[in-house]
Amino acid sequence: MSTAIGIDIGGTGIKGALVNTKKGTLISDRIRFDTPKGAPPQEVAKKVAEIVSELDAPADTPVGICFPALIKNGVTLSAANVSDQWVGLKAQKLFAEALDRKVVLLNDADAAGVAEIKYGAGQERRGLVLMVTLGTGIGTAMFMNGKLIPNTELGHLEIDGVDYETKASVSAKERDNLSFAQWAERLAKYFNQLDKLLSPDLIIVGGGISKQQEEFLPLIQTNLQLVPAQARNNAGIIGAAFIARKQLKPD
Ligand code: BGC
Repeated sequence: MSTAIGIDIGGTGIKGALVNTKKGTLISDRIRFDTPKGAPPQEVAKKVAEIVSELDAPADTPVGICFPALIKNGVTLSAANVSDQWVGLKAQKLFAEALDRKVVLLNDADAAGVAEIKYGAGQERRGLVLMVTLGTGIGTAMFMNGKLIPNTELGHLEIDGVDYETKASVSAKERDNLSFAQWAERLAKYFNQLDKLLSPDLIIVGGGISKQQEEFLPLIQTNLQLVPAQARNNAGIIGAAFIARKQLKPD
């Protein structure tokens, strides 16, 4: 069986599981810890190591880790909702050393998007497909004819002079006590701005809240085609595992 470990680091929780990378399914329990306060690199790496050791997979099992930052060549280049110490950090190396395993590091929304394109709502979809993850922040992944264009960071699109992640993320909904209808208005503004700039053929909406998609997706006034993510909140884990398997131990 093709397996890999997938780890999804978020501003709120760190989750991991063993994944069957042929089918895109979890083949272990999902292990979750709260993200240490402020998400400092050493403490996050320690939690990831705890998850990997609990999963108890053979030493050569590839590990894919996804993280909420712009990532190039294993270096984290931004830090939104996590400690500033991540900026410019050789994070892939930090994780590889903490785990004593080979590791691939990628952006969390890119990982989630890869899972949806490969196994979920974006399968066989041509044209420009965007994955938008709604959570502590807003993450985006862009695909042209199924090929990832990484590190898009469109969650930070400025609308009315503000970084719109601070208006339309799930944490903004909670902070401002918005009903689903009120939140859907902000999401419409955000998605319609994406439409104006990029004319996507499909937007896949993910993040933990996509479990409740019936409550808000139909309320979003837009001409865009919006569909819920199929892997729901496991998309990051599955996509990270898939990429790690492909890069570190191709079948
Ligand atoms: C980060 C992105 C990340 C997204 C979702 C944003 O604040 O800048 O890199 O993908 O949150 O976690």
